[in-house]
Amino acid sequence: MNVLTATKASGRVRVSDLQPEQANFAEEVAAGLRQPQKTIPPKFFYDARGSQLFEAICETPEYYPTRTESAILQQRAGEVSELVGAGVQLIEIGSGNSQKVRLLLDALKPASYMPLDISRDHLVHAADAMSRDYPWLDVHAVCVDYMQPTFALLPRSALRKLAFFPGSTIGNFEPHEALAFLRRLRGLVAPGGAVLIGVDLKKDAGILNRAYNDASGVTARFNLNLLARINRELGADFDLAHFEHDAFYNEGIGRIEMHLVSTRVQNVCVGGERYSFERGETIHTENSYKYSVAQFQVLGEAAGFNEVRTWTDVNQLFSLHYLAGPEPE
Ligand SMILES: C[S@@+](CC[C@H](N)C(=O)[O-])C[C@H]1O[C@@H](n2cnc3c(N)ncnc32)[C@H](O)[C@@H]1O
Repeated sequence: MNVLTATKASGRVRVSDLQPEQANFAEEVAAGLRQPQKTIPPKFFYDARGSQLFEAICETPEYYPTRTESAILQQRAGEVSELVGAGVQLIEIGSGNSQKVRLLLDALKPASYMPLDISRDHLVHAADAMSRDYPWLDVHAVCVDYMQPTFALLPRSALRKLAFFPGSTIGNFEPHEALAFLRRLRGLVAPGGAVLIGVDLKKDAGILNRAYNDASGVTARFNLNLLARINRELGADFDLAHFEHDAFYNEGIGRIEMHLVSTRVQNVCVGGERYSFERGETIHTENSYKYSVAQFQVLGEAAGFNEVRTWTDVNQLFSLHYLAGPEPE
């Protein structure tokens, strides 16, 4: 793989680039569109516009995860700090706008903060703001796709580590991939570190369906933006007027599925290749798996963590898990 690894100062922060080349986008989209059930990985939602739209989703009244997780973090920051100790390297996976991590900083007093995200401009902007607002904090942003082998090339530090993975982004993985990723995080924080991870809980289908179908249509715009991005960056000709957002809770499998539905028979050209769509045929753009507290704790233990602490809100909408151990001999 061709990897650009550059470290440069952007304002006050260091930025390392472990981004794979643009070719990955074209290859992964083509591979997904050639499947019988067309699919595009959700990581491609996050161009600059997609990242902005995700922030707007978090503000909608229906999207309870952000405000619920933030309230749990605010309430439990002191306990997290007691568990992991001060002076750690705080590594945030899929850091987005780096807002939630702020709720930990006063209690945790980390020595350094390393936000990781695939959405480069958004990452650099958020990291600059962190550095401005917390002048005592060493900030080193890394643009990386954590699904790629380059994730293993993160800059090293001798400090004990806390990996923070909020937003229930772990729900985008198939459960077996979530297990494998938790194992990778265990390796990342070893020896002696911990993982703090936000996980959305199974609940009434009505609450879930409303959260992914907000009345103001922001989630629909977020989903459709993927096609606009493919048109712009891969020279495709998706007609956005003939695709519709569809999201529903698949209760049997325990996941929200997000699709883009073709509203007519049509052909679309992407990177010189033609793809045909039946009326009603979909591109599957995201899964968001929901867990029970017990299911996620079992996953954490299967990943090799022997200390698992869980906090939830009173309504049992969302969970925050602290995964640690075993301590080195
Ligand atoms: C669901 S949003 C969560 C954002 C933020 N952490 C929060 O809790 O609100 C997912 C974040 O992970 C990033 N992301 C998604 N897939 C990624 C990947 N494969 N590698 C790195 N970052 C990724 C996105 O750019 C986005 O910022």
